[in-house]
Amino acid sequence: MTYALITGASKGIGKAIAEELASRRIHLLLVARDAALLQELSQTLHQQYQIEANFLALDLATPNAVQELNNWIETHHYRIHILVNNAGYGLSGPFTDYTIDEHKAMMQVNMTVPVELTATLLPQLKANQPSYVLNIVSSAAYQSVPGLTTYAASKSFMLSFSRGLRYELRNKGVSVTAVSPGSTDTGFAARAKVGTKGLKAAEKVNMTPKAVAAIAVKAMFAKKAEVITGFINQLGAFLVWLFPKKLAEKTAAGIYELD
Ligand SMILES: NC(=O)c1ccc[n+]([C@@H]2O[C@H](COP(=O)([O-])OP(=O)(O)OC[C@H]3O[C@@H](n4cnc5c(N)ncnc54)[C@H](OP(=O)(O)O)[C@@H]3O)[C@@H](O)[C@H]2O)c1
Repeated sequence: MTYALITGASKGIGKAIAEELASRRIHLLLVARDAALLQELSQTLHQQYQIEANFLALDLATPNAVQELNNWIETHHYRIHILVNNAGYGLSGPFTDYTIDEHKAMMQVNMTVPVELTATLLPQLKANQPSYVLNIVSSAAYQSVPGLTTYAASKSFMLSFSRGLRYELRNKGVSVTAVSPGSTDTGFAARAKVGTKGLKAAEKVNMTPKAVAAIAVKAMFAKKAEVITGFINQLGAFLVWLFPKKLAEKTAAGIYELD
């Protein structure tokens, strides 16, 4: 029996990806901090789709998180053929509003953990072919975003990491896909403490987590390199590429109320 491991599966896009994979009868390993939400989701998906769904409540911002996660995998002899690096969060507002420890914790969850987890699980993924790594990135990866500076940089890192690793693994039976959602109707923006202007802008273009998950899983199984969800977000990335960077940065700064 092989499993899909999903980080950040308790809510939002990660939960929707769990539901999408369960509907395809794929067994699941779910990771996030909120044990109650994970337990409820595991039970529901097990009953609804007759799949195995196990969970580990873990704070991925703690120093030995990946080691702890790997101990759990090894103890239970879980075999993994899909890794979904989805857990992530943003810190909005001026860079200087946060301590370096707050920035580092976010960088760990958004970048270090996905890299470390990929490295840890690659031998398994190579052994359990065909296998897949799905990285949930962001439309923020395509430009600098004043007001979400460290977050956007962490997502640019993940986009570049995904593409480089995908090329290196092209003949190894492991496909790597980066999916970049734009604004999605989860609690993400509120948790990132995005101001009212930003929340209003997001509301106008929000996609549902279910729609994002469907696109992401389809892209992963189609072995796509890079997908931006939705036409508006694709257009946004194209305009960012077309126009001077300064213009995109000024627009973003306006949305995140930095002017
Ligand atoms: N929503 C958007 O507009 C949007 C747009 C572009 C990209 N994204 C990306 O999509 C991914 C999912 O975001 P979302 O919108 O679904 O956000 P969300 O609703 O806030 O969900 C985030 C998930 O990550 C988990 N998580 C956060 N910090 C964690 C930690 N320290 N340890 C373990 N798990 C942690 C949360 O679980 P617990 O709280 O239970 O730990 C939750 O399951 C993120 O990588 C985000 O950057 C979102």
